[in-house]
Amino acid sequence: MSIVRTLQHVDADRDGIDTAFRDDVLAGLAQRHKAIPARWFYDTRGSGLFEDITRQPEYYPTRVETGLLEQVGKDIAALVGPGRCVVEFGSGSSVKTPHLLAAIDPGSYVPIDISGDFLRDSSRSLAERFPDLPVIPVEANFMNPVALPHEVDGQARLGFFPGSTIGNMVARTAVDLLRSMRDTLGGPDSGAMLLIGIDRIKDVAVLEAAYDDAAGVTAAFNRNLLTRINRELAGTVPEDAFVHLARWNDRFARIEMHLEAQRDVAFQVAGQPFAMAKGETIHTENSHKYGPRDANLLLRTGEWTPVETWTDADDRFALILAKATEYRTAP
Ligand code: AVI
Repeated sequence: MSIVRTLQHVDADRDGIDTAFRDDVLAGLAQRHKAIPARWFYDTRGSGLFEDITRQPEYYPTRVETGLLEQVGKDIAALVGPGRCVVEFGSGSSVKTPHLLAAIDPGSYVPIDISGDFLRDSSRSLAERFPDLPVIPVEANFMNPVALPHEVDGQARLGFFPGSTIGNMVARTAVDLLRSMRDTLGGPDSGAMLLIGIDRIKDVAVLEAAYDDAAGVTAAFNRNLLTRINRELAGTVPEDAFVHLARWNDRFARIEMHLEAQRDVAFQVAGQPFAMAKGETIHTENSHKYGPRDANLLLRTGEWTPVETWTDADDRFALILAKATEYRTAP
């Protein structure tokens, strides 16, 4: 079964330019501290490079989280029960989903993704692997509440948000998203639950290596943003003048990725002039890491009550199951 609910379209101007991309890049480069939202990494090449990152030996999150799902599937099944509608936020080309679906005896699977291509490919392969499971993809931006298809009416929902993607958001955005997920999945009366992957704070050398692998795949992923700007926004950014930086910011408990100018540069993007001094950076991504209490506080602020946390033996990565919080008058 396969129904596409909401069609998302890219706003393009007369020259075929993605206007949201252009507006974000122009606004971001005009700031004193230059920054471009990380979502623009994911053009076709960027998405492929991200898949390559997940296979690098230094990038532990994908391996550890997948291993955790394999190990604790039975425990998750016992806590969530059978027949749930599993709603995956930003399904991409997820390799983790089959482990969850195989473990919990779900009633249906609703992957939500803004990229129709990824959605169609991953839905097709999951439908082949689970022929008796209704797979109902929804093409939408999961940052806002999403209307689920009526086929899943009456099924309690289990949200699935693996990969520690929540870490790519600043706290306010992360909380907004968690609350929006609650709107999508339903409140405590419907028994809504959320299974979320959150990366832990750990040794700085391990974290920085995960975002600056020896093979240079993460560097290529970061630098591809400049290639995309030059190609799609008539940019003249001298790509060879920029290097990839990944550094731990302890105050904000996050890895930051930047593109650092190695010399003074001047360039144009979409007809607008910009200049950067040697050593100046464009901030391209945050990847926040959480200790056990921080993670629980984040979830509770987003109206989810943690029920169980699973981590690997080295406490590198956490899978947290939470239930929709009841609204009560606080003491
Ligand atoms: C998608 N996201 C969870 C990745 C992360 O670890 O923050 C993106 C990434 N950026 C560089 N490497 C991986």
